[in-house]
Amino acid sequence: MPDDIDELQRKVEEAAAKIETPQDLQRFKEEFLSRKRGIIPGLFKKIPTLPPQERSSFGKRINELRELAESLFKKAEERLKGNLWRERLRKAIPDPTLPGYFKPLGSVHPISEVSHTIEEIFLRMGYDIEDGPEVEMEYFNFDALNIPPHHPARQEQDTFFVGGGYLLRTHTSPVQIRAMRKRKPPIRIIVPGRVYRRDEADPTHTPMFYQIEGLVVDRGISFAHLKATLETFLKALFGEETGVRFRPSYFPFTEPSAEVDISCPVCGGKDPNCSVCGGAGWIEILGAGMVHPEVLRAGGIDPEEYSGFAFGLGVDRISMLKRGLTDIRNHYWNRMDFLEQMK
Ligand code: DAH
Repeated sequence: MPDDIDELQRKVEEAAAKIETPQDLQRFKEEFLSRKRGIIPGLFKKIPTLPPQERSSFGKRINELRELAESLFKKAEERLKGNLWRERLRKAIPDPTLPGYFKPLGSVHPISEVSHTIEEIFLRMGYDIEDGPEVEMEYFNFDALNIPPHHPARQEQDTFFVGGGYLLRTHTSPVQIRAMRKRKPPIRIIVPGRVYRRDEADPTHTPMFYQIEGLVVDRGISFAHLKATLETFLKALFGEETGVRFRPSYFPFTEPSAEVDISCPVCGGKDPNCSVCGGAGWIEILGAGMVHPEVLRAGGIDPEEYSGFAFGLGVDRISMLKRGLTDIRNHYWNRMDFLEQMK
């Protein structure tokens, strides 16, 4: 009989070690511990059939076995509970070693990128960045800039009239007046922003585009300052080797006025069939001049005491030149393939 019990103990131990699931646990209980059918409780029923002198030691032995089986059962139960919790935790806590979800990162728009580059050049020269409204008063957009109601320049800058004396600004120049009224000289600002014209969209026109205005007002500002500033700026933007030339021109808000050209950044003037300069070797890049005394006055500044220079450039055009684009509308089609290439 003791041999049988040793054998049974081994069975109990083996079965306990194999418990993996709640079903295994249940089976273990039924097989060894169940009061009705379990092997160990069944052994107790045998006690009365044994010779009296064996009863006590046998009883002791099976009691030990029952305690062992019960404690193995408890341990297995604990182990399963632990596994269950680990399993739940595993499901609840994201695995930090898994690769993350990637959202495609945007990038700076080509227009903004060129605008930032230009802004940085002027910030290095001590300029401030000024801002003004896109829905502008007719007065600031035209009259205060020395463009009276019947001036032909108003025709050239036909725009979207909002009514009540307001319009979508045709250039960033009205911010000159706003800045002069707000600040005291010395004034040294650039004004990046959107402007509007009533133009049909074609490869060189869009009804909305970007400009950057520049304005310097102080005592003793001369054309020499304008020239040196724009030369420094254009060489910083297009490269030291870039040629810069000034041609006399006309703007109502400057006197004298100039148009400024750079040597062709594509062919350098060497290709008579160049698609960018058409063989001319020069490309018009901006308008500039000495601020007209009437404009200083409209800004509340005494032209007897102060003088200034101003300039205005088209950001889209510079973006096209720098990137070799032949259609300005590329900037506004929101085509990912184009924008990806411009990164
Ligand atoms: N406002 C002009 C335009 O949109 C550009 C311009 C020319 C601005 C000469 C200036 C300037 O400040 O001095 O065509």
